Amino acid sequence: MPTLDLGVLVSGTGTNLQAIIDAVGGGTLDARVRLVLSNKPGVAALQRAAAAGIPTQVLSHKSFPQRESFDRALVAALREAGVTWVVLAGFMRILTPVFLDAFPMRVVNIHPALLPAFAGVDAQAQALAYGVRITGCTVHFVDSGTDTGPIIAQAPVPVLPGDTRDSLAHRILEREHESLVTVLQWIAEDRVSVVRSSTGSRPRVVVKGRSPLLGTSAEAR
Ligand code: GAR
Repeated sequence: MPTLDLGVLVSGTGTNLQAIIDAVGGGTLDARVRLVLSNKPGVAALQRAAAAGIPTQVLSHKSFPQRESFDRALVAALREAGVTWVVLAGFMRILTPVFLDAFPMRVVNIHPALLPAFAGVDAQAQALAYGVRITGCTVHFVDSGTDTGPIIAQAPVPVLPGDTRDSLAHRILEREHESLVTVLQWIAEDRVSVVRSSTGSRPRVVVKGRSPLLGTSAEAR
């Protein structure tokens, strides 16, 4: 089976990165993390990567005049490292077509809500403020919109009485870690494809032999 050559883009704590590192180390994800790239210096995700012996690089978006020049620098660093698939693991920047065209349908994001609900920043607080009973996480391909790309898999998470933003975020994160690693392994197994219809409707993702509704009785592992 081919091994995925991953580049992981981060901006913060890096628990999703850690889930990837642990799954690769534990032999449940056929991937190598070639490079961890952060747009912020000093974040915990960089320490996690360094502790696992993974090359890291910081490219601050503030050092670039436009989004496009920042994206060109990201692409160059990822290509140089031999990356063929990109994971956004808590990366809090919007990518332009300069980046997305360099890795077409090869950029995967994890988002802490059931898209299309609660796109953008602080999806957990948005869900609490709205009063939904169920939220969750979504793993999706990235397009040039904000959290609008084709959905690969979703996992539901209940909102419990008394939840705070942090208690809910923690419960969602546990599902994020499983969901992200599960989807990446599907990609490694070549189970994931994007189908474009001739009618101009949204591209859809087809997952061969696995249920993309994760963490429910519908899930068949
Ligand atoms: C995660 O909850 C991830 O879904 C979210 O940031 C957190 C990063 O946590 N990403 C977004 O909101 C992107 N729109 P981590 O750094 O511990 O993996």
